[in-house]
Amino acid sequence: MLNMSLTTPFAVYVHWPFCLSKCPYCDFNSHVRHGGIDEARFLRAYETEIAATAARVPHRTVSSIFFGGGTPSLMQPSSVQTILDCIGKHWTIAPDVEVTLEANPTSVEATRFRGFRAAGVNRVSLGVQALDDASLKELGRLHTAQEALDAVAVARSIFDRYSFDLIYARPRQTLDGWEAELKRAIAEAAEHLSLYQLTIEPDTPFFGLHRAGKLTVPDQDLARDLYDLTQTICTDAGLPAYEISNHARPGAQCRHNLVYWRGHDYAGIGPGAHGRLTIDNARIATETEKRPEAWLMRVEETGTGLTVEEKLTSGEAADEYLLMGLRLAEGIDLARYSALSGRNLNPRRVSILRNEGAVETTADGRLRVTQSGFPLLDAVVADLAA
Ligand SMILES: C[S@@+](CC[C@H](N)C(=O)[O-])C[C@H]1O[C@@H](n2cnc3c(N)ncnc32)[C@H](O)[C@@H]1O
Ligand code: SF4
Repeated sequence: MLNMSLTTPFAVYVHWPFCLSKCPYCDFNSHVRHGGIDEARFLRAYETEIAATAARVPHRTVSSIFFGGGTPSLMQPSSVQTILDCIGKHWTIAPDVEVTLEANPTSVEATRFRGFRAAGVNRVSLGVQALDDASLKELGRLHTAQEALDAVAVARSIFDRYSFDLIYARPRQTLDGWEAELKRAIAEAAEHLSLYQLTIEPDTPFFGLHRAGKLTVPDQDLARDLYDLTQTICTDAGLPAYEISNHARPGAQCRHNLVYWRGHDYAGIGPGAHGRLTIDNARIATETEKRPEAWLMRVEETGTGLTVEEKLTSGEAADEYLLMGLRLAEGIDLARYSALSGRNLNPRRVSILRNEGAVETTADGRLRVTQSGFPLLDAVVADLAA
């Protein structure tokens, strides 16, 4: 019997799917509604979905809540408060709960930070993306570098914990340019930074431009050098990577994201949200309707936006643990992998990867990807899962 004790992490993810404009690189479930949205009506649907989810997994203690998007900083602070109150009504909230809200760093949104704090948010994650105005324009962002830094300063004055995101390996980016930008970012950072390599996602405007030869991104070698430089600068600054794209001072990791990567349970609330719930000893994958208005109507008509509710096989659950866990610097617990899958990882494959320097095993029975193996993470996972 899986023991869901009071200390087993349990996270709630709340997806707010609206943005002021769509950035040309982004394939997240985010939508622009020029005519505005009926926030009060959406709010009732969030409350309904929280109640329905809690009825399926009652008696959990919520260790983290994450408002992601889209742009949740466009929500009214009172809406965030209502959702947090609703979560607290249906589940026990851990005394040290982490409540993060993703925010776009515009001046309009920064004016709401105090309201979010009063509602119960205790950590913000700002999408700064670049500290260079030409890049921000090319990325389709609605803020300048100065405006983003001003928003970071507002966050710092209100929240004990904040993080911000940068995207690197951008068009025309050089090693010297990135070094200067990253060092400037670190001077503004406190305990946490997310540093993502630009990915050209299918079905985005950047994909079309890239295919047409109108958008050139760093080649594989330069991307690798940018990645290595990132690791060196961050480690020297006391912000080593604890996950392939996430850096933190010791103890300042994002606890919510650790729930995903360590394979614990989380409820997904809102349009297009994914969840993983352990019910009657089975791990259930859930997914809700992606289109916001269709999700709204589905919740109003049926009490939930769920479109997928699938029991994972032991092999699927184990592969997922491998895929998520190897993103972490701490790696995976080999005994847990074996318990999930009913077999050990193929020792020959592990040994080949170890000899190539891509993975290492630790004295306490963990397998982790090495610093030089991280840029090849997808291939390592594919090899081990096969
Ligand atoms: C849900 S998104 C953004 C939250 C917020 N709406 C914003 O834009 O600031 C989370 C993060 O993913 C990153 N991201 C999104 N699309 C990306 C891409 N194609 N390549 C690399 N990073 C990406 C960005 O850094 C972004 O801040
Ligand atoms: S990057 Fe953020 S603001 Fe831009 S479209 Fe995606 S979710 Fe919206």
